[in-house]
Amino acid sequence: MRLLLLGPPGAGKGTQAHRLMARYSIPQLATGDMLRKEVADRSELGRTAAEIMERGDLVSDDLIIAMIAGRIDQEDCRNGFILDGFPRSPAQAEALDTMLSSRASALDRVIEIGVDDDILVSRITGRFTCRACGAGYHDVFRKPARSGVCDVCGSTDFVRRADDNEDTVRSRLAVYHCRTEPLLPYYASRGILVTVDGMAGIDAVTEQILAALAASSTIDSDGGRPLE
Ligand code: AP5
Repeated sequence: MRLLLLGPPGAGKGTQAHRLMARYSIPQLATGDMLRKEVADRSELGRTAAEIMERGDLVSDDLIIAMIAGRIDQEDCRNGFILDGFPRSPAQAEALDTMLSSRASALDRVIEIGVDDDILVSRITGRFTCRACGAGYHDVFRKPARSGVCDVCGSTDFVRRADDNEDTVRSRLAVYHCRTEPLLPYYASRGILVTVDGMAGIDAVTEQILAALAASSTIDSDGGRPLE
């Protein structure tokens, strides 16, 4: 299954991708995580991306497309993948189509996680992650069972992202509406888009996605209108 999760920052793409990975045994390809690794490694790409990410803009299409191009050919993607954070511009969507069609492949399903802007700021500014295993938490919505201890690996070392502050979140939201939302009618016109209610609780969102995927055995992914 080749799946794309679309939605604004804080919609729950990463949260749901982790659950779907476990369920379908396919990897999550998260361009934001890949970029943060480049930043941590102080690579040339990481040095270019750091400042762009901190102000909430998009890293250039060329750099992102080059970063993801070889990834879908790796062995762990043989049975599919979950794209999280890519594509997020028309040029990236076209590049993805080209990559997949040259491999006689296509996206099976695009899941939009719809959430009102108002709630996204509180979701993002309350987010923190286990540094050791990457498990995601929230100050209010998803606390660890034992305060200060990761449920998954027992680590007590947590991190917050540099771009998870209110000003940057508002910029990221504006960029999402301007650059990424135009992908929704593109995928809708191909009959592969499903929108789930991301305002619901985390478990309820997972159930909506699983129901949509269960109903997708007769997906028609041909056709579609060109991106503007
Ligand atoms: P990226 O890392 O992709 O960030 P994002 O798209 O802004 O999304 P987030 O990771 O912030 O949110 P999410 O939807 O995964 O939410 P989460 O599950 O954590 O990108 C970062 C930056 O990298 C970009 O700004 C850009 O600069 C650059 N970049 C990345 N990809 C790029 C590309 N393709 N092109 C160009 N530039 C690129 O949930 C958020 C919080 O809410 C968590 O604490 C969670 O516990 C909680 N939560 C989740 N679901 C629920 C729920 N249903 N109810 C209550 N709480 C919930």
